[in-house]
Amino acid sequence: MAAELDEAERLSRPELQALQLERLRASLRHAYDNVAFYREAFDKAGVRPQDCHSLADLARFPFTAKSDLRDHYPFGMFAVPESEIRRIHASSGTTGRPTVVGYTQRDLDTWADVVARSIRAAGGRPGHKVHVAYGYGLFTGGLGAHYGAERLGCTVIPASGGMTARQVQLIQDFRPEIIMVTPSYMLTLLDEFERQGVDPRSTSLEVGIFGAEPWTEEMRREIEERFAIDAVDIYGLSEVMGPGVAQECVETKDGLHIWEDHFYPEIVDPLTGEVLPDGERGELVFTSLTKEAMPVIRYRTRDLTRLLPGTARIFRRMEKVTGRSDDLIILRGVNLFPTQVEEIVLRTPGVAPHFQLRLTRQGRLDALTVRVEARAGLAPEQREAAARSIVAAVKDGIGVSVEVEVVDPETIERSVGKFKRIVDLRQERS
Ligand code: DLL
Repeated sequence: MAAELDEAERLSRPELQALQLERLRASLRHAYDNVAFYREAFDKAGVRPQDCHSLADLARFPFTAKSDLRDHYPFGMFAVPESEIRRIHASSGTTGRPTVVGYTQRDLDTWADVVARSIRAAGGRPGHKVHVAYGYGLFTGGLGAHYGAERLGCTVIPASGGMTARQVQLIQDFRPEIIMVTPSYMLTLLDEFERQGVDPRSTSLEVGIFGAEPWTEEMRREIEERFAIDAVDIYGLSEVMGPGVAQECVETKDGLHIWEDHFYPEIVDPLTGEVLPDGERGELVFTSLTKEAMPVIRYRTRDLTRLLPGTARIFRRMEKVTGRSDDLIILRGVNLFPTQVEEIVLRTPGVAPHFQLRLTRQGRLDALTVRVEARAGLAPEQREAAARSIVAAVKDGIGVSVEVEVVDPETIERSVGKFKRIVDLRQERS
């Protein structure tokens, strides 16, 4: 295995930290010299790139928020002339303008390298066939996975999202070893295999590389069991690069190693912005160390996790993301993430892993309804029992009362990419 690792994966921690500091200083300088937004923000905070003498000094620099990127739509955060931009991606966002990101040729190379490293960590090897069912287009998933798989020496099947029946056909005919897709779309594929009467455990697939949305250990077990594959987690965000910022290693499946030679992580208290020590939960913040077109300094991801020491690699790990602060539902004073409901739904016999959360307002209080599908052939009294069991598990485990509707199979919308777990039907927000 060691022979297959790339140079950065073989560094010692002190060597890595020296490289990070050198790159961090260059990145701060690059941002300050070439992006008006960073120059103003650093000046306002009274810091200069040359004030960064250690990795800990990064805490003196100001944060960057998604709104800063939106305010400089479309190209105001670019640090190189537009003629040097080789590719643009954008993330749609639920409101207003999309967030635009740009890449130079060198950035695209770095990205392909980190995705290749990710696929290798997941168990992929040159010569494997990789079925990419992340969407191709402005979303970074499809093209990010695509060029990484090619870089590793794999054969890419650029299926993109949608046309589910055809995906199943392609998987049977082309016999890929690896699939890259959102976990929720993998469930849609599962249904389609069953609809076509094909045993999902009988395919050529060996590994699934799942990301772009939160998913739980219960979902891992479900997918691994139903498809007879290894399921590993890939993380990333467009503002920082795209998929391949962090990846779980197949041999340990114990959280995601952050490719720290390119992306420097911090965990901060989401309310105060104070940097928290490794091991404590908070908001993940990234500083790019090598990006040319669009360096990001202390970018607030809103993703909640914690940093842990490396295991299968020297790089630190991030725990599986439990949720984004945006997805936090505060129900009568109790905090609830959709992933907590996912754990419960997947442990409940008789129901399928398809569910959606509906937020409504009843009088002055918010109410939450969990809509979950019954498995085929579930008798009415068993449905009621399943609903009661979910209500009780949410009350006991999370501490809040919810309503549960166990609906007919195939009634909940199916994912073709990132799944919208929460449907907000509240009229006005306070
Ligand atoms: O979702 C990039 C990506 C594509 C990652 C394919 C992995 C696979 P964005 O559309 O900018 O980029 O969305 C980024 O998605 O801040 C997280 O909230 C969420 N996310 C991404 N990966 C994971 C994951 C891509 N493995 C946002 N677990 C991030 C939990 C994830 N959440």
